[in-house]
Amino acid sequence: MRRPCCVRPGIDRPFMSQIVLLASIVIRLLAFGWSVVLVRRFRDWRLVLLSAVLALMVVRHTLNSRWVRDEWPGIADLASALPAILVSLGLLIAVILLGRMIDDYRAALDRASASTSALAENRTRLQFVVDQAPVVLWALDNAGVFTLSEGRGLEALGLEPGEVVGRSVFEVYEGNTDVLNDARKALSGHRARSLARVGDRVFESRQRPLLDPSGKVVGVLGVAADVTARERAMSELEESNQALTDAYDSTLEGWVGALDLRDRETEGHTRRVTRVTVELARRLGIPGEDLVHLRRGALLHDIGKIGIPDSVLSKTGPLDEDEWELMRQHPVWAHEMISRVGFLQPALDIMYCHHERWDGRGYPRGLSGESIPLSARVFAVVDVWDALRSDRPYSESWDEDRVADYLREQAGGHFDPAVVEAFLNMLAEGSVQEA
Ligand code: C2E
Ligand code: SIN
Ligand code: SIN
Ligand code: FE
Ligand code: FE
Repeated sequence: MRRPCCVRPGIDRPFMSQIVLLASIVIRLLAFGWSVVLVRRFRDWRLVLLSAVLALMVVRHTLNSRWVRDEWPGIADLASALPAILVSLGLLIAVILLGRMIDDYRAALDRASASTSALAENRTRLQFVVDQAPVVLWALDNAGVFTLSEGRGLEALGLEPGEVVGRSVFEVYEGNTDVLNDARKALSGHRARSLARVGDRVFESRQRPLLDPSGKVVGVLGVAADVTARERAMSELEESNQALTDAYDSTLEGWVGALDLRDRETEGHTRRVTRVTVELARRLGIPGEDLVHLRRGALLHDIGKIGIPDSVLSKTGPLDEDEWELMRQHPVWAHEMISRVGFLQPALDIMYCHHERWDGRGYPRGLSGESIPLSARVFAVVDVWDALRSDRPYSESWDEDRVADYLREQAGGHFDPAVVEAFLNMLAEGSVQEA
């Protein structure tokens, strides 16, 4: 037996039906409100339409209810027209939705086919790069077995792409420490970079470990470029550079011979002071790359004496005032001559400053203390040491102890005390070779 909607026996009917009606309106309004919330969240026009339909259903249902029929029959007539409107609206929505779905589907299909062909194109391009790259590309698994071996660089090794895949790097490159050291390093999780020799080729190789997210080594990726031609050019350049340096230095040797001859220098003075100065400079921590210039400076220290007449240079007695005037110019003349010779410019300090004194009473500029270049301070000690222990045209040689006493006495006067101390230690150790 059907019971009329919203009517419960024993309860005041119109009142109850109003309560139930109100409740149903509230619930439907909540449904309407929820659809509005959904619209705001998804910004979807289909939800807007759904909300409109829901709203119309709520209105229609409300107008069509028994309570409205009873109270305002005219309005109920209006409500009876609503289903037809709803059906039309539903159809319209269905058609629009279908159109939109077809459009969406077609766009998705287009996108998919575009990305498929882009993918294929990328793959082709990548394969081309891998095939044609003038390098060797390879990968190892974590046991050192090749999983990939590609690239034009393989030709130089006499290998086909993929030929070594499946074999261990330790077997393929057995005995090649260059390659295997790098592989071991990469397999233990470090980047490796080196020049590796394979047969008669030289490769610049880089290997890096492949790590899983936990940091465990799962393999190695390597790339190597054939740099044989470059290495050959470099070593030729080095050789010709060395030949040039040798030519410079033998030219210097020739000059030194001519200078010593003219200056009536004791046999071997220049070579001796050069060797001892280089040794002392090394002890004092002058860097290796400066020593080559220091050596050239020492060899040429008195080149300025070319400007001094023989009569003065070979004079047996003491020099007079005019002669000293000339003699004090020899470092200046050296500076004028040599400052135009590019490769000797860094060697000028000794030539220009070897007669400066620590106390400032030297010549030609009267520099003092650390404003005198270190190489010249070192050289001055050795030069005087060797002059005193040799016969000069103007003085007899002194014995070793007297020379050492003189140097000690002049520490802080003529000489840099730190240099004197280092030199006396060197003498005491007997590490200064005679000859
Ligand atoms: P040099 O013969 O190569 O001497 C280099 C330096 O060693 C001298 O620089 C001086 O500091 C030191 N030395 C050489 N002999 C003696 C010496 O008997 N006693 C002392 N205390 N030090 C000595 P200096 O004095 O600036 O001389 C520069 C150059 O002038 C010398 O080069 C030498 O060619 C010339 N010269 C110096 N004194 C005389 C001299 O009395 N007669 C002549 N003919 N030439 C001298
Ligand atoms: C959504 O965008 O996740 C749902 C909205 C819709 O397409 O109806
Ligand atoms: C030099 O460097 O040529 C001097 C060393 C020597 O032969 O005594
Ligand atoms: Fe000198
Ligand atoms: Fe000298």
